Amino acid sequence: MADTAVQRFYRFHAHVYDGTRWMILHGRRRAAAALHLRPDSRVLEIGCGTGLNFPCLLEYLDPVAGRLVGLDFSADMLRQAQKRVAAHGWRNVRLVQGDATAMQLGQTFDAAFFGYSLTMIPDWVAAIERALEHLASGGTLVVLDFSRFHGWGPLAPLMRTWLRLNHVETLRPYEDILRQRLDDLEVHYWLGGYNFTAVGRKGA
Ligand SMILES: C[S@@+](CC[C@H](N)C(=O)[O-])C[C@H]1O[C@@H](n2cnc3c(N)ncnc32)[C@H](O)[C@@H]1O
Repeated sequence: MADTAVQRFYRFHAHVYDGTRWMILHGRRRAAAALHLRPDSRVLEIGCGTGLNFPCLLEYLDPVAGRLVGLDFSADMLRQAQKRVAAHGWRNVRLVQGDATAMQLGQTFDAAFFGYSLTMIPDWVAAIERALEHLASGGTLVVLDFSRFHGWGPLAPLMRTWLRLNHVETLRPYEDILRQRLDDLEVHYWLGGYNFTAVGRKGA
């Protein structure tokens, strides 16, 4: 199948991602803490990119008993992630190339995480459904992503347009659907709606 616009976008951006995104992608540590990981947790990061969240997630995991699977559909981003994994010698990390809206990994996880990936997925509801299928009962789902910039006055539409040009759609009802699908959803907005963290639990 032909690559999507997002996969083509990351052919170039994979090479500059780590050097540029520290300026705009914030809240990784806070989001990782919200997953409430134990040393033996099995964690799935959906849209893991180059693996910038891996250190924050692995901090909580035992190097043998804890497991992290990173899924992404961009071969270019995964190549960078693989270099990171090799450089750190992480043996409990598995990388999988696949589409979040159709993933079938044949296992369940204690925690699942979308870090700045959900807003880039046109069929984001399917991606949430697939994530829930892979989550064990009582497991935690965390979404960290851009929000609507509600406190940014006249700059808000400019920010949303700039993000849309970079394949990020901020105006969908992410929180509403997450609230429908998860128990005890808590949503926090940061920096006037620059980004949000949503944390919920899969019911029994
Ligand atoms: C902004 S990057 C975030 C990467 C990483 N999670 C981070 O926090 O730095 C978005 C990632 O989502 C991936 N992605 C977008 N749509 C996807 C899909 N349908 N299935 C799997 N990965 C997808 C992209 O390839 C990209 O690596």
